[in-house]
Formats: sequence, C-alpha cells, structure tokens
Amino acid sequence: MKTEELVQMAKEAMTHAYAPYSGYKVGAALLCSDGSVYCGCNIENASYTPTVCAERTAFFKAVYDGHRDFTAIAVCGGKDGEITGAFPPCGVCRQVMREFCGDDFQVHLVTPEGWDTVELSQLLPHSFSPKTHMGIGE
Ligand code: THU
Repeated sequence: MKTEELVQMAKEAMTHAYAPYSGYKVGAALLCSDGSVYCGCNIENASYTPTVCAERTAFFKAVYDGHRDFTAIAVCGGKDGEITGAFPPCGVCRQVMREFCGDDFQVHLVTPEGWDTVELSQLLPHSFSPKTHMGIGE
C-alpha cells in the first residue's frame, strides 16, 4: 500500500473522533504486515482520564482481530480537525506500539503539506521492551 493511501485513511478516521472536551480530532491508520488496515480515532470522556487516543484505538481493534505484526501507522490531528502541523503520538501510545513493533516500525506524521516519516526507535529510544526486558516473543 502506498503511504499516500494510508495517510488518506488516517484523515478519514479523524472525522470519527469523539472529542467534545479538547476539540482536538485525531485519526490513525495502522498497516498490518498482511496488508490489512485498521483505523482509529480518539474517544474522549467526561471524566477525562478514560480518554483513549486514536493510535491505541487502531492497535486494539487490530489485536482483537488477531493481528500482531505491523508495518506502519499514519497519524493526523488538529483542533477541530484542521491539520496545522504534525500531531505526534503521546508517550503511552509509543509504549503500546513498542509492545508489538520493532525499531523500524514506520510512523507517518501527517502535515499540511504531506507527511514526515520517523521510526519507532526515534520516538522511543532506550525503550522498555517486551522481548529484551520481559522475555516475551523470544
Ligand atoms: N490524542 C490522540 O488521539 N493521540 C495522541 O497520541 C495524542 C493525543 C488525543 C487525546 C485527546 O482526545 C486529544 O488528542 C487531546 O489531547
């Protein structure tokens, strides 16, 4: 799949956001290694802390459906859904990515002009890893 298509899917996912408190709408499109794509949006809550980010919505949908191998994610967000710059994943979402993804997992940060691509190792250096530190998936 072309990155441009994944970016387009993230933009569409952003329109599903439930963000009545912050007004920030976020969308994510997660590419599985088998070519399937799972989309997510942020879902806020009156009690604030139960809010879930777009990236985790996408990951949890995919994992529920049996996926464990992922290639890339496109993420976009902005106030009222207007993309004015990159909307990088929060620390919690980075750690969720780390659970299932290697250093070379591609994160496409959507910008008004297109997108910037970074690898998970850049977003979460010196990470706590299920494989290295917990012996999971060795
Ligand atoms: N948000 C995401 O959906 N993804 C992130 O990685 C950063 C933050 C959402 C959570 C909240 O609904 C809104 O953006 C403002 O923080």
